[in-house]
Amino acid sequence: MKVLVVGSGGREHTLVWKLKGSKKVAKIFCAPGNGGIYRQAKCVNIKADNIKGLADFAFRNKINLSVVGPEAPLARGIVDEFQRRKLKIFGPDKKGAQLESSKVFSKEFMRRHHIPTASFRVFSSAAEAIGFCKSVQFPAVIKADGLAAGKGAVIVRDLEQASSIIEDIMLKKIFGDAGDRIVIESFLVGQEVSIMALADGKTIVPLLPSQDHKQAYDGDRGPNTGGMGAYCPVPFLSPEVMRQIEEHILIPTINGLIKENITYKGVLYAGLMLTETGPKVLEFNCRFGDPETQAVLPLLKTDLYELMTAVVNQKLSSFSKLDWRNGAAACVVMASRGYPGKYTTGVKIGGLENIKDDNVFVFHAGTERKGDRLVTSGGRVLGITGLDSDLKLAINRAYRHISRIKFEGAMFRRDIGSRPVKPINK
Ligand code: AMP
Ligand code: GLY
Repeated sequence: MKVLVVGSGGREHTLVWKLKGSKKVAKIFCAPGNGGIYRQAKCVNIKADNIKGLADFAFRNKINLSVVGPEAPLARGIVDEFQRRKLKIFGPDKKGAQLESSKVFSKEFMRRHHIPTASFRVFSSAAEAIGFCKSVQFPAVIKADGLAAGKGAVIVRDLEQASSIIEDIMLKKIFGDAGDRIVIESFLVGQEVSIMALADGKTIVPLLPSQDHKQAYDGDRGPNTGGMGAYCPVPFLSPEVMRQIEEHILIPTINGLIKENITYKGVLYAGLMLTETGPKVLEFNCRFGDPETQAVLPLLKTDLYELMTAVVNQKLSSFSKLDWRNGAAACVVMASRGYPGKYTTGVKIGGLENIKDDNVFVFHAGTERKGDRLVTSGGRVLGITGLDSDLKLAINRAYRHISRIKFEGAMFRRDIGSRPVKPINK
């Protein structure tokens, strides 16, 4: 079978690597790919948002399955276009992708289907939003409605800060049209976990839980990033809480989608806060998480191509139990100095030849080949995943190998996986 993976990050490298392990997959293409993906896939120079170009490529090359990594093409209807042309594709259609592409849609969807989430109000006028803030309890959270590259949610501590953020988003339009409307919601306290689940429009099957580390610096300080590291599974997530997540969140979500005539096929990612009063949804994403995927998929033993085909053909019920490796995985992201702000690119990367451990994976994100040199080309550069029999050992393995990789200005968090690990039973 021939597969096309769309995207160019660490998530896509992991998808390519995992799909390559399937006996059913003969050839993989990746559009556009990066400086590491070319080892497992043929990289084709079509950008992830060029929907027509990608559909033409899949048609001409008789691709059996296309898999979409990032949210932007999903939100813009890549799946609708492929389906119109009878091309098989893994991911939700434009209507389903609204769970991520519109916070207003997502929050109102949760309200309609009684899915636990922070209480909220929607505003399309800055003056009304500021007026409302005079009576809210701080801290509160202000979110732009549309996609804002992970920067659209801001925690505000007082009225002055809330007013200034509302003006930035709604009047100065720092996120463009994404800020035409905003959500103001109450601040939730607890541990965050990421649950990615496969959904075929009828059945939903969760993958192992993981935890991301969103802030740039150690101790959860500094600006929010796309994610600086992740580990899997999550030791403090008890089976009882996982059962509650399925019963109160995942199943009502898929049933709600069915009621609203949305055939949701692909990954449903629920970003959750485990609060004193039970798990609550912070956000839905319509795709695999990055870097969570780099920690979750290396533990999956089930054939990913077969799973994805079952999703697309609505046969996921035959896979109600997935097969996992024992132990744990930890992924530490190496980023360019300055990320998530301004950073330089084109910096030579060295030392990858020193990684010779079958339980360590180097997933490329912002890398590029320049002749026979590998150089940086983005903010998040590499994800180093270590596997071992427990979380502590997996973390140590990842860090041991990171020290062998060098590029000028490389920065990474030194505390991935070191959050409190006491079990939460509510
Ligand atoms: P979002 O884009 O909605 O996932 O928000 C990004 C990040 O902001 C989340 O991963 C949380 O760390 C934080 N966050 C979002 N909503 C809330 C909330 N209601 N309470 C506390 N933290 C939040
Ligand atoms: N790591 C968070 C995300 O993929 O949205």
